[in-house]
Amino acid sequence: MNKEQAWDLLKEYNKDEFHLEHAEIVGSTMRYFAEKLGYGDEKDFWEVVGILHDLDFEMYPEQHCIKEQEILRERGVDERLIHAVASHGYELTVDIKPEHEMEKVLYAVDELTGLIGAVVIMRPSKSVQDLEVKSVKKKYKSKGFAAGCSREVIDRGAEMLGWSLDELIQQTIDALRTFRP
Ligand SMILES: [Fe+2]
Repeated sequence: MNKEQAWDLLKEYNKDEFHLEHAEIVGSTMRYFAEKLGYGDEKDFWEVVGILHDLDFEMYPEQHCIKEQEILRERGVDERLIHAVASHGYELTVDIKPEHEMEKVLYAVDELTGLIGAVVIMRPSKSVQDLEVKSVKKKYKSKGFAAGCSREVIDRGAEMLGWSLDELIQQTIDALRTFRP
C-alpha cells in the first residue's frame, strides 16, 4: 500500500479534520524517524503505518486497533502493516506487542505528538521551531494539561525504545520541526 492509497482508505473511514491532521502528523513523524534510525529505504512504509494507525478510531472507538485489522485484512494488506498499526493498542485493546523498532516509535510518538501540539498552540510564537524540551516537560508533569495524552503510554514507549523521556521529547520536537511551522 502506498501513501496515496493509505490516504484514500483513511478518508473512507475518517471525516473529522482533527483525525486527518493527527494522521498526517504521525505519518510525517514516522517518516522522519525511519530516516533517523537507519531505515531510510523503508520511510514510505513507516509513513503509511503512521497515516493508518488510527484508521478505525472515528467509527469504531470501542473496537480500536481491532476493527482496523479486519478492514485491512479484507483489503489484502500486508500482515506486517496490520501488526504495526494494531500494536499501538498494546495492553489497551489488543495483546499485540510492539516488536519492531518502528512499532515502538509509533507507540511512543502517537500520544506525545498530541501533547507537544497542545503545548505549541499555547505559546506566543505558536511554533515548534523555538520549543525546548523543558517547556514540554513542565506541561508533561501537569496532569490536568492535555489530559487525554497518556503519560503512561509515552513513558512506556520511551522505555521500549531504551530512550530517556528527555531524549524522546527532543527527538520528537526535531521530527516536528521538519514539517510544522
Ligand atoms: Fe494516534
